Amino acid sequence: MDYSIISIKSVPTEEQGTLSFFEGERDLPFQIKRIYYIHHVSAGIKRGAHAHKTLQQMLFCPYGSVTIILTDGKTKEEILLDDPCKGLVLEPGLWRDMVWNIDNSVLCVAASQYYDKDDYIRDYDEYLEYLKTQKDIVK
Ligand code: TYD
Repeated sequence: MDYSIISIKSVPTEEQGTLSFFEGERDLPFQIKRIYYIHHVSAGIKRGAHAHKTLQQMLFCPYGSVTIILTDGKTKEEILLDDPCKGLVLEPGLWRDMVWNIDNSVLCVAASQYYDKDDYIRDYDEYLEYLKTQKDIVK
């Protein structure tokens, strides 16, 4: 499946916590054009239910715990984001759901493009049809 887990660079300090950072193109396989984050979500809430046609993203959870459920139309995988130093890089074409495991967990996303509602596929059957069209395209 077209994703990777990255270890976000982190600098621990003596009794003063840890500073984590990443830079577009150096630490991520894309230039960052947008950052957004989802917060004030109660445990048990599920969001997402969409795929992107071209958007690349890096998801991380600086506070709390969120499970990312991915499918490429054939297999399903779950990635637990419960560590501020763990990043999930998603390439385009994956269907994702996100489940909040703990109240007020924060999910942050660095994205390769500005917001574009036309980049979303929000209907699962439409997503499966979209995948069929992509198979014919030689990359
Ligand atoms: P959406 O991506 O559907 O959130 P989730 O995947 O967490 O369920 O976005 C929710 C709403 O926010 C939707 O109306 C689109 C809007 N939105 C923006 O206006 N700009 C953005 O950068 C993003 C990510 C969403």
